[in-house]
Amino acid sequence: MAVPGRGLVPAGTAVLRGDDRGVLHGDGLFETLHLRDGRPWLRDAHLARLRAGAAAVELDLPPTGALVDLLDEVCAGWPPEVEGALRLVCTRGPEGGGPPTVYATLGEVPAATRRARGTGVRVATLPLGVAARSRPELDWLPHGVKSTSYALSTAARRWATRSGVDDVLWVSTDGYALEAPSANLVWLTGRTLCTVPAAATGVLPGVTARWLLDHAADLDLTPQERLVTLGELHEADGIWLTSSLRGLAEIRTLDNAPRPHSPLTAPLLTLLGFPAG
Ligand SMILES: Cc1ncc(COP(=O)(O)O)c(C=O)c1O
Repeated sequence: MAVPGRGLVPAGTAVLRGDDRGVLHGDGLFETLHLRDGRPWLRDAHLARLRAGAAAVELDLPPTGALVDLLDEVCAGWPPEVEGALRLVCTRGPEGGGPPTVYATLGEVPAATRRARGTGVRVATLPLGVAARSRPELDWLPHGVKSTSYALSTAARRWATRSGVDDVLWVSTDGYALEAPSANLVWLTGRTLCTVPAAATGVLPGVTARWLLDHAADLDLTPQERLVTLGELHEADGIWLTSSLRGLAEIRTLDNAPRPHSPLTAPLLTLLGFPAG
């Protein structure tokens, strides 16, 4: 772990107070980055999303240079052959005022996350209780923010475990697939690689999905952002969940309906820089 001004500290060291608003209210932001070859992949895109989120929730962040130094500090000495899960956390700090609490942690990417790239995942849909475009229409509600408040996500994960699936896909009241609790939805229709538009729906603007769509042409695919109904998704030529640590995991079962393995899974993994399979 690393803390600004304190450098590297042992993992068990206390880095925030009991009355930190990150703890009391989930009032904070974070980023999860994939450490590969000892370096955080797409670091600048993650820092840009953190800064945009901080502006949206009026949170003071240290200057970008200080955050980069912090990441460098925590990554120094990490064995380059081991995939790392690098987290940068910034909360609103102690109740009653005080500077934001900032720290970075580093651990191994869990084996199950790495395995899912090859095996794919079983996914069930879960209603989110909001219409697809309703959240961005609320001008008081920050959206597209990677908040430390993950109560919805952890509830959905517990539901997934109880239901015997690996993950869930949230669906809007008007029937559109949105995102998973910690991943974006990417699908293929013909030669078009699609994802859900973040600005129009309030899903998290995923760094991984953005990168994939920006590089779709490398695989002779056309990128597109659009809404997708569940019916259309069942007809898609491939469906994946994308996020920084997993990279990409193919949805092999959607609401118990088995799906054929997409021949594009391996090339997409390769494009993301992961060994295929
Ligand atoms: C709700 C949600 N959607 C999507 C993602 C994927 O984003 P990224 O590719 O930037 O990791 C995450 C990442 O944790 C997430 O929490």
